[in-house]
Amino acid sequence: MALNKTVYIGPFIHCESLNQLDICTNGMIGVGEDGKIAFVSRDMKGRQLPAQEGWEHAKMVYTRQYGFFFPGFIDTHIHASQYPNAGVFGKSTLLDWLNTYTFPLESWFSDLDRAARIYNRVVARTLSHGTTTAAYYATVHVPATNLLADICKSRGQRAFVGRVCMDRLSPDYYQDESVESAIYDTQACIDHIKHIDPQFDLVTPIITPRFAPSCTDETLAALGKLHRDTGLPCQTHISENKKEIELVKELFPNHDSYTHVYDQAGLLTPKTILAHAIHLSSEERSLIKTRQAKISHCPASNTALTSGRAAVRTMLDEGLTVGLGTDVSGGYTSSMLTEAREAIFVSRHVAMESGDEAKLSVEEALYLATRGGAQVVGLEDRIGGFEVGKDWDAQLIGLDGVGDTVGLDQRAGLVEIFGEETWDEKVAKWVYTGDDRNTMAVWVKGRLVHSRESFKP
Ligand code: GUN
Ligand code: ZN
Repeated sequence: MALNKTVYIGPFIHCESLNQLDICTNGMIGVGEDGKIAFVSRDMKGRQLPAQEGWEHAKMVYTRQYGFFFPGFIDTHIHASQYPNAGVFGKSTLLDWLNTYTFPLESWFSDLDRAARIYNRVVARTLSHGTTTAAYYATVHVPATNLLADICKSRGQRAFVGRVCMDRLSPDYYQDESVESAIYDTQACIDHIKHIDPQFDLVTPIITPRFAPSCTDETLAALGKLHRDTGLPCQTHISENKKEIELVKELFPNHDSYTHVYDQAGLLTPKTILAHAIHLSSEERSLIKTRQAKISHCPASNTALTSGRAAVRTMLDEGLTVGLGTDVSGGYTSSMLTEAREAIFVSRHVAMESGDEAKLSVEEALYLATRGGAQVVGLEDRIGGFEVGKDWDAQLIGLDGVGDTVGLDQRAGLVEIFGEETWDEKVAKWVYTGDDRNTMAVWVKGRLVHSRESFKP
């Protein structure tokens, strides 16, 4: 569908660096028919458009009372198939949670109707939270994984879609039959995505060994080869739970560490996303840094499954690249705003306990949710901020309801703005008290992919 040239007028905010927001209160961003940012103006006077040749007939979208434009969130780790269980985890920890809750649920996806219902809902829901890019785990099922890719493509969400590989220590009713079948099925999903999106412009296949305990040496090596031969990204879990780490030691006695298992298999590269990374040794972190692999920090999940608290500050200080992941349904929330808040609070717990870790700020959490995430998924040249040449992957955040003049039912969510806050305070109120009701509209590559009823462009 052809896009109109559009000029977005009003305040915009994005992350300049890890701890610095760039807040432009008088902004104007022109987005071309290709969905890319063509110009950024920082001193829009009143409603006077500066003369921009060729933009005389452009459509205009104002923030109006709403608030500000912000880059779309990037969820670097989410299990689309586990969405029905978001919030359902009881008192389990990782290994029993997988057997009790997760494998039975994922096995449903042999039923394509059920898969369609769930995948449509998770994509619509994450878009409504402002998630413009998601790195999804599907299940072992090829038709359902292909369907998830189709849904992302048709709803307009940028996505990495992974067919999960697991050929051991998994239930009989839910696992790959052999190395060959795991590779064959993964290739079938790659071919399908190539068919629906030949340039991987919006949807990209991602090679997905579930985690070392559920993959044989042969499967890990074969997936490592596929990763190298295709140049496609790869995602997996690492060092999430202490029992899991013990299991990896038993299963791979000849390897120095969990990280080494992936490295040996050719799965530790600049295009690898490692979820959790809670209990890594400094040697492992150093190896990850050397290989330039990326980390998805999933604080809500790590608390829910009592897996532990990842020392994000240490990872950042050591120069690792970190983004945030909701890890539904280890994580209870599909909202990256909530995940950012969780990241801040988990960092406060780490700081309280260790004394020498500095807690994350609002700015840092937002950086991890946007620009950091873009680096993790290897799209830092295309998304994560508002620079000329990048795609317009953005959300309009509503903060209306000044004082008593606007009725509660008309307000954009729970964020109470009294009109005297600084912009930093408004952003902090959004992070701590906001939710999807503040997400008035969402665009991916210039296309409007979600809006609230009250949004009038
Ligand atoms: N490790 C292996 N599989 C999973 C999963 O589905 N969720 C989480 N959180 N960890 C895993
Ligand atoms: Zn996960």
